[in-house]
Amino acid sequence: MNAMQKFRPLCVLALGLAIVLIPTLALTDEEKAPEDVAIEHRRAHMQLIWRDFGPVLSMAKGDMEYDAATAQVHADNLRALSSYNPTALFPAGTAKPDRDGDTRALPAIWERLDDFLAAYGNFTTAMAQVAEVASNGQPELAAAVFDAGKSCGACHDDFRAEKFE
Ligand code: HEC
Repeated sequence: MNAMQKFRPLCVLALGLAIVLIPTLALTDEEKAPEDVAIEHRRAHMQLIWRDFGPVLSMAKGDMEYDAATAQVHADNLRALSSYNPTALFPAGTAKPDRDGDTRALPAIWERLDDFLAAYGNFTTAMAQVAEVASNGQPELAAAVFDAGKSCGACHDDFRAEKFE
């Protein structure tokens, strides 16, 4: 057995540990309160949604050239992102009045949780429809995207403040 062969199991073990430990370390944000992390993550979730919705909206409006494959990638992401259960991102004590400046989430979310989740459900359904037709040509994509856009607006109208302050 040469030196390389002798060390191979150790290397594999080290690599395995690195793979297991690195994400754990990255996730242990010990200095941050759980409320801060929840606010950060729910806003990041919305930013990701916008990252995929922006391009299909531009294609729907004709501001960006329609491309079936690109539209389908964004639409599939939107289906996945809108299937994410958001309840853990809204712990108690993280409404705008508790955390002015950090969040626009209105107390109505906690006061009318069923309505909030129903609005989220409409959004999930609308995004599944966008994913269903994304490759079927610009007119079909546009119709589904404009419809889905209403589900964003409906929730923002009732549950998101205009301003952070
Ligand atoms: C069921 C409710 C709901 C739906 C549906 C929804 N949003 Fe939101 N969105 C929110 C709430 C609540 C906030 C405020 C989060 C905060 O400030 O803590 C928000 C914030 C945002 C933000 C700002 C993120 C930031 O950095 O503060 C963007 C962008 C956004 N939403 C885009 C969208 C788009 C695009 C859609 C539809 C494709 C959508 N949202 C659908 C509830 C919703």
